[in-house]
Parts: sequence; structure tokens; C-alpha cells
Amino acid sequence: MTLTIGVDIGGTKVAAGVVDPTGAVLAQTRRDTPADDVAKTRDVIIEAVAELAAGREIEAVGIGAAGWIDASRSNVLFAPNIAWRDEPLREYVSAATGLPVIVENDANAAAWAEFRFGAARQAEDSMVMFTIGTGVGGAIVLGGDLVRGTHGVAAELGHMLSVPEGHLCGCGRYGCLEQYASGNALVRFARAGARQEPGNAPALLELADGDAESITGPMVTAAAMDGDAVSRQAFAQIGHWLGIALADMVQILDPQMLVVGGGVVEAGDLLLGPAGRSYVDSLAQRGRVPVAELKAAEMGNAAGVVGAGDLARRR
Ligand code: BGC
Ligand code: NA
Ligand code: ZN
Repeated sequence: MTLTIGVDIGGTKVAAGVVDPTGAVLAQTRRDTPADDVAKTRDVIIEAVAELAAGREIEAVGIGAAGWIDASRSNVLFAPNIAWRDEPLREYVSAATGLPVIVENDANAAAWAEFRFGAARQAEDSMVMFTIGTGVGGAIVLGGDLVRGTHGVAAELGHMLSVPEGHLCGCGRYGCLEQYASGNALVRFARAGARQEPGNAPALLELADGDAESITGPMVTAAAMDGDAVSRQAFAQIGHWLGIALADMVQILDPQMLVVGGGVVEAGDLLLGPAGRSYVDSLAQRGRVPVAELKAAEMGNAAGVVGAGDLARRR
């Protein structure tokens, strides 16, 4: 049985795991992503790989990184939420570990895990996935394969336009979906709601010690589960924008399945309820032709690691 290592690098956490051919994670390790320090981020990845590779025969390493990867799956060209600019990640990690390495977009890696082993394992042809975390990631599978595009940067679904001339995005464009449907957007909506109508945000403001500016994502989730109106409304807002984007993807691709994943999905129906309603409401084909079912991701926070590991095996 051949083993690979999958690494998932997000805006806040670096997770790595030993992955077997059935998608099982045999051992894992986690570290914080060093904020704005690319050299340290590189070291953290190399450390995590070295720790997991010790005493094991590892065939290859797959790295899922939250950014735009070149077509040769070697370099991070740009990352809206991490300081990478033309970062030759494959070369660094391969030289330091002596192992073959591929670099893949983080959302592509997570989607690959869901397609092979998770929520979309019954879809043999096509799926579209959105990941809702610090940013909004996207992935498209067609004909059983990830769509990477000519330059490697296809399926950057978080940077589709939601609101003309809306909020400035980390990518440089105004009004991207990422500014309206990410974990960061959830927090922005919740802070605004708590400032404007504190009487409808008692649970949320209690968690934040009365200070709207200290509200965090986990606080919004906890308060929403407690029935806090402003918090539930914040989820409804990001769900609204996500649903419109899901409908747009169905208009373009008519895939077998739609999957929503990422950390924010732990909130379950708080997000998927409003997203599902907005998806159906936005769809031109509504009731006329069958359309893709919307599912929550099933691989949890292992998705990126499993997908990156499996993609390394198929390199
Ligand atoms: C980046 C994507 C990434 C996503 C989720 C976006 O801002 O452009 O490359 O997949 O965040 O991490
Ligand atoms: Na992607
Ligand atoms: Zn953008």
C-alpha cells in the first residue's frame, strides 16, 4: 500500500496528514499559519512533512494552498489572503524533503476529496464546489477531472462578481463573492448588525463582551445556534449571495452535484438553509428541468489533506 502526505494551507491553519489509497488519514499534525511570513510558512510546511515522513515510506507530497497556482502545479502565483507572490513552493518543499511534490489550489484539493470519497462520491462525471472559510474557494470537476484552465487558475469562484462596485477584495477587484459569502463577510455582517440593532444581538454581544468590533466567526456561529437574530441574519446574508452564485454555476455547467464546504459549513442549516432557498429562487430553470442537488461537504476539515494526498498519488 502506497502512502502520500497531504498538506492543507489555509489563512489560519496548516494541516498535514498521511493519506492511504482509500482516502483514510493514518496520522496527522497541525500548526498555525505564520501570519504574513512566507519564509516561516515554508518552514512550517517542511517541518510538518518531515515529522510525518519519519519512519514511513512516502511516495509523494501534495500541497493544497489557498491561492492561485500555475499550470505546472509548482508555484503559487498570488494569494489574496496570504503574503505569497510568485512563491516556488514545489521547489522548496521538494528540495528540503527529497520527495516529489505537487501544489494544488486548496479548494480544488478539498473538492477532489469530496468527489472521490465524500459528498459527491456518487457523481462520476461532474460537480461544482464552494468552500466557505476565510475566503471563498471554488472547484469544478468535469468528465471526472478537475478543471484547471489554461494557466492553472480556473474555478476561482470566490472572485466572481456579486455586487457591482461593492467591497474591495484581496484580489484587487470590487464586489467579489468572497466579500459577501466568506467567513470574513459573515463577521462583517454580524458586526454591522450588532451595532445597528444591539437589542436583537444579545447572545452575540454577550460573547463579545459588549464590543461589536471584537465579534469573531465562532461567536456568530455559537450565538446563531442560540437563536440570536442578528447572527442568524448574518448567515442568511452570506447564504443569499452564495445561492445566487450556485445558480449561476448551474446555468453555466449543469453539473451532477453542488457541494458547499469549508469551516463555516459546520454551522449546518444556518448557512445551507438560506443558501438552498436563494439557489432555487435564483434559478431560471426552476421547475422546468431537473437541476443539481445541493449538498453539504462530508469530509470535514480533513478534506484538503485527503484531496491533496490523493492528487499527489495521481500526479
Ligand atoms: C483564493 C482561492 C482560495 C480561496 C479559499 C480565495 O481568496 O483566491 O485561491 O481557494 O480563497 O482559500
Ligand atoms: Na479552485
Ligand atoms: Zn476577489
